[in-house]
Amino acid sequence: MADAKKTNPNAPTSETVLAVKHFTDKTFSFSITRPPSFRFRSGEFIMIGLMGEVRGKVKPILRAYSIASPSWDEKLDFYSIKVDDGPLTSMLQHIKEGDKVLLGRKPVGTLICDAVVEGKRLFLFSTGTGIAPFASLIRDPEAYEKYGEIILTHTCREVGELAYGYEIVENARKDPLLLDILGEDFGKRLHHIPTVTREDFTLKGRITDLMESGELFEHMPGGAFDPKHDRAMICGSMDMTMDTKALMEKFGLEEGSVSRPNTFVIEKAFVG
Ligand code: A2P
Repeated sequence: MADAKKTNPNAPTSETVLAVKHFTDKTFSFSITRPPSFRFRSGEFIMIGLMGEVRGKVKPILRAYSIASPSWDEKLDFYSIKVDDGPLTSMLQHIKEGDKVLLGRKPVGTLICDAVVEGKRLFLFSTGTGIAPFASLIRDPEAYEKYGEIILTHTCREVGELAYGYEIVENARKDPLLLDILGEDFGKRLHHIPTVTREDFTLKGRITDLMESGELFEHMPGGAFDPKHDRAMICGSMDMTMDTKALMEKFGLEEGSVSRPNTFVIEKAFVG
């Protein structure tokens, strides 16, 4: 008889770390190889992990991570917090080029263009590492074909935490594939609105407060929120997600899902 030991078709694959970049003492990004058979939609998340010891046994420690690169990219990018006593991120923050990382096989998630009907403006509201799925979406041509303007807001406690957002927006605006498909001027349709809550900054405050006061809309084309034409995706902590969702509903938007697309969708940011 053939060897009875079967390989589990759902078991994570082992991928190689291609690059690591530390942004602050609390955040870092990394890229890994992408298996040729790995398919996903820009904005989805996947399980990522390392082998680690749990109660004396070595086994995979996996957490959900938004994929921060677009679906057409050859590699997979991620953006992570570092939690010193976090089961996964306490180890993951030390990975180096050439190390192995476990990658799940089933990407899922609601922050995808298929779940939000077309419109004139697409707001991408993020806090902290909740910006990761939007790093994927702002480099996907489909987003610019479906929505006229893309407005990425990123709110952090401190100015230093905004660095990743500046980098992904700059990279998106000069992305050769986007320039080729969408033309030289597409970058003007991508708006980046960083805000800070606990230090002085040009735009200070929570995104919810800045919308309620109307201050946010003074800084952008199209003015105040209009549920007929505006669409939104939300990714942050549970509190931020719930408060921003309530505000969207107050503005007249309706929550959608992959099976029932509508005018906005949510996903809470994952903490590794
Ligand atoms: P704040 O400094 O006023 O708490 P956190 O690290 O706690 O997830 O916060 C990241 C950013 O999200 C911070 O700038 C924080 O503002 C903001 N934030 C936290 N909770 C909410 C909320 N309920 N609504 C909007 N923004 C929030």
